Amino acid sequence: MQGTGGFDLGGRVALVTGGARGIGAAAVRALHEAGARVVIADVADKQGLELAAALGEGALFLHLDVAEERAWAGAIRKAVDAFGALDVLVNNAGIANAAPIEKFTTAKWNAVIAVNLTGVFFGCRAVVPRMKEQGGGSIINMSSVDGLRGSPATHAYTAAKFGVRGMSQSLAVELGPFGIRVNSVHPGYVRTRMTARIDPEHLDIPLGRPGRASEIADTIVFLASDASSFTTGAEFVVDGGMIAGIPRR
Ligand SMILES: NC(=O)c1ccc[n+]([C@@H]2O[C@H](COP(=O)([O-])OP(=O)(O)OC[C@H]3O[C@@H](n4cnc5c(N)ncnc54)[C@H](O)[C@@H]3O)[C@@H](O)[C@H]2O)c1
Repeated sequence: MQGTGGFDLGGRVALVTGGARGIGAAAVRALHEAGARVVIADVADKQGLELAAALGEGALFLHLDVAEERAWAGAIRKAVDAFGALDVLVNNAGIANAAPIEKFTTAKWNAVIAVNLTGVFFGCRAVVPRMKEQGGGSIINMSSVDGLRGSPATHAYTAAKFGVRGMSQSLAVELGPFGIRVNSVHPGYVRTRMTARIDPEHLDIPLGRPGRASEIADTIVFLASDASSFTTGAEFVVDGGMIAGIPRR
């Protein structure tokens, strides 16, 4: 079956962390529509189960806290047991917090680093043996425009997103010889629960509007597919032009 953007993921199996809502849920829908079987891995059990039920065949929900080191092996095993392979890992789960640096507590720092950076490391480390065994795979790590430039008061978030970008490139170099591609995706503003308090009117977006979660998902489907077979270690900016410059008002 051909789905989003004409990319064919028939026979592929993907696991999407943070797949229960927001950008992750859009990625789950788009991958499924393109023919992949998809594991939704999230701590939001109710939303994850509802999404899996709505998609029906070829979709499965797994409870996974990406920051729980020991939970990862079981999640990979359950995905493979259910669908027979694991070709694509989308490390999308994320949280955010903000405070001026003098008020940025260690607890705030640790919480975001644990999910947004260490969780991505755990995911990559857990999936690589399986991908090596299969002779290849595609790892798609969710960074942000905040992984490309500074942003006030989001110290841990920005540090984590820069870290994800760097880790993706070091992994791309290490894993290229095994046919495993690793790329990072850098969305601009998309209205989700995470960004509900940000008013897009205050953002300078050259395309003049917020992004849609489905537009980030389209890039994820491309990176999961053979259409990107020569692409690794690359940064995919999907931001309506925010990083390119500030438009005239
Ligand atoms: N929305 C934006 O404008 C934007 C921009 C750039 C990057 N991003 C990134 O996109 C990703 C998705 O964000 P979103 O906007 O859809 O946010 P969201 O809050 O709607 O969704 C985040 C998902 O991650 C899950 N999650 C949180 N902690 C988890 C954990 N420990 N283990 C497993 N799952 C966990 C949540 O339950 C939720 O389903 C994040 O990595 C975020 O940093 C978002």
